[in-house]
Amino acid sequence: MGYRINVNGEVREVEATPDMPRLWVLRDLLGLTGTKYGCGMAQCRACTVHIAGEPAFACQTAIAAVGDRPVTTIEGLSTDGGKTLHAVQEAWIALDVPQCGWCQPGQIMSAVALLGKTPAPTDEQIDEGMNGNICRCGTYSRIKLAIHRAAKGGV
Ligand code: FES
Ligand code: FES
Repeated sequence: MGYRINVNGEVREVEATPDMPRLWVLRDLLGLTGTKYGCGMAQCRACTVHIAGEPAFACQTAIAAVGDRPVTTIEGLSTDGGKTLHAVQEAWIALDVPQCGWCQPGQIMSAVALLGKTPAPTDEQIDEGMNGNICRCGTYSRIKLAIHRAAKGGV
């Protein structure tokens, strides 16, 4: 079945079954491999993207359920073809947050959504907003510092 989907500001056309998870549409049909597969069961948030600005599990969202709501992936956070990074990405780099890196696109997408709603979060608000984003490498303390850094404009 043919679908027109809005991803990172572009309308793309794909052929998929209605129940195909958005994660596979992004990764396998569109080549947007920044969004990661962790558990496939809504348990880790590695696959977090934004749908109409809200964080969502790409592994649990069928293509037919998204409709024409815009989707943003980690590739869509930067501008100028990736030359200008989002403030959260800059903070991640400045504090050397990732270890293996697998969970980090989902962590960053959740952090961007958190800061969109709470521009200067407390530690508790970060814990709440990032709750469910699992990192098997235990980078949680650097993630928290990076969110504070991004909230202060990179200082
Ligand atoms: S891969 Fe989607 S929540 Fe784990
Ligand atoms: S950096 Fe390895 S799982 Fe988070």
